[in-house]
Amino acid sequence: MHAFQTIIEPFRIHSVEPIRMTTREEREQELGRAGYNLFSVPGPRVLVDLLTDSGTGAMSSEQWAGLQRGDESYAGAASWFRFRDAVKELFPFEHVIPTHQGRAAEKIIFSVLGAPGKAIPNNTHFDTTRANVEFSGAEALDLPVPEALVPSSRHPFKGNMDVDALRRVLAERDVPVVFMTLTNNSGGGQPVSMENLRAVREACDAAGVPLLLDACRFAENAWFVKLREDGYADTPLPEIVRETASLADGMTMSAKKDPLGNIGGWLALDDDGLAEQCRNLLILTEGFPTYGGMAGRDMEAVAQGLREAVDEDYLRYRIRSTEYLGEALDRAGIPVVLPVGGHAVYIDARAFLPQIPPLEYPGQALAVALYREGGIRCSEIGTVMFGLQPDGSEQPAAMDLVRLAIPRRTYTQSHVDYVIEVCRFVAEHAAELRGLRIVEQPPVLRHFTARFEPL
Ligand code: F0G
Repeated sequence: MHAFQTIIEPFRIHSVEPIRMTTREEREQELGRAGYNLFSVPGPRVLVDLLTDSGTGAMSSEQWAGLQRGDESYAGAASWFRFRDAVKELFPFEHVIPTHQGRAAEKIIFSVLGAPGKAIPNNTHFDTTRANVEFSGAEALDLPVPEALVPSSRHPFKGNMDVDALRRVLAERDVPVVFMTLTNNSGGGQPVSMENLRAVREACDAAGVPLLLDACRFAENAWFVKLREDGYADTPLPEIVRETASLADGMTMSAKKDPLGNIGGWLALDDDGLAEQCRNLLILTEGFPTYGGMAGRDMEAVAQGLREAVDEDYLRYRIRSTEYLGEALDRAGIPVVLPVGGHAVYIDARAFLPQIPPLEYPGQALAVALYREGGIRCSEIGTVMFGLQPDGSEQPAAMDLVRLAIPRRTYTQSHVDYVIEVCRFVAEHAAELRGLRIVEQPPVLRHFTARFEPL
């Protein structure tokens, strides 16, 4: 007999949260109240919440136990040392600067390094990263490989950066820092190869510019390296992570993703002078350097979460369960970004709803339809999120995607099967869907609060 391959949820449920059912009619009313913006729909009115994988994971019994161990001393808490050591175990940077979440780390580093006239390249900036770069006056440049913009291309590392484009930018522009986002969230949750990261490092070295990681999904990225890149099949996951870290000079981090925290983050740096400037800002905006923006108990939860994040049984289940959803949608003829990413399945809404032009927001229209028909909440990553230019004009984003983000350890396979059924139902009625127009919007990060009307 062959060995039986085990890929099931490697945990059982420890406490449960009820989901309250809603009717289509109730959801239609909810959409009207929310101005067709799913960020304005109350959580209890959502059946399956795939808005984000950020802070929405289920904690383990060991993490809950960690909350009880939380030491809330203002300075030098025991929880701080456990947190710092857990971070350094995987990311041995000299300085670890704790923040309440990822964007706080971004705000601090770009306040120090960004300024008008400067350019900050990334494989693809996430929305908060881009907004923080632009807030500093610097220009945020996205330099993905060309395959990243072709949803149907099956390149194994579509998160990679276009290294030739990077070299040109480094030669022509005033670049204070280069960023690499692992995995590339805005580009489809796609991984970056170690080979690409090494090439980026060499380009940065040649130009004397530091390289920082936006490493929110470092463990999922490392798992893809193990699966897809030559020479890593037998390398333990933590070693792949440490090799990744060794190619950078620091990182910004949201502990709400792979580290399985509900809140938390950090900035880590090797450079003493830069770290000193960042710590000074930390004290102004976040807190004392041994807790930053976190309670002691949060630091405990993240320290334990970091250990669980690199567990191979967990990662095998995690990546396979995302792929399970993506494969089912692909089989149903729904255009999804392939190969399926780590933390989310991205539907190519521009291809799914060809009757809706980008400036009528096909991604938003699809997200609204999934909520209306099935109570599923997901997010647009397209022209609503990226279309508004710093000068106030509007342009179609490179892609109009809808992201079904999978919270970590939160939903079962039968929830995912329900999501597949709803997507298929919406696909059968896709030709009936119409676009939207924006009736109210703020000047930046408009996707959070804009209000829409159906056309
Ligand atoms: N960088 C990336 C790649 C992210 O995906 C996020 C957050 C951040 C930085 C900011 O971290 O939320 O802790 O301040 N992404 C969430 C998402 C919000 O839904 O993808 P944060």
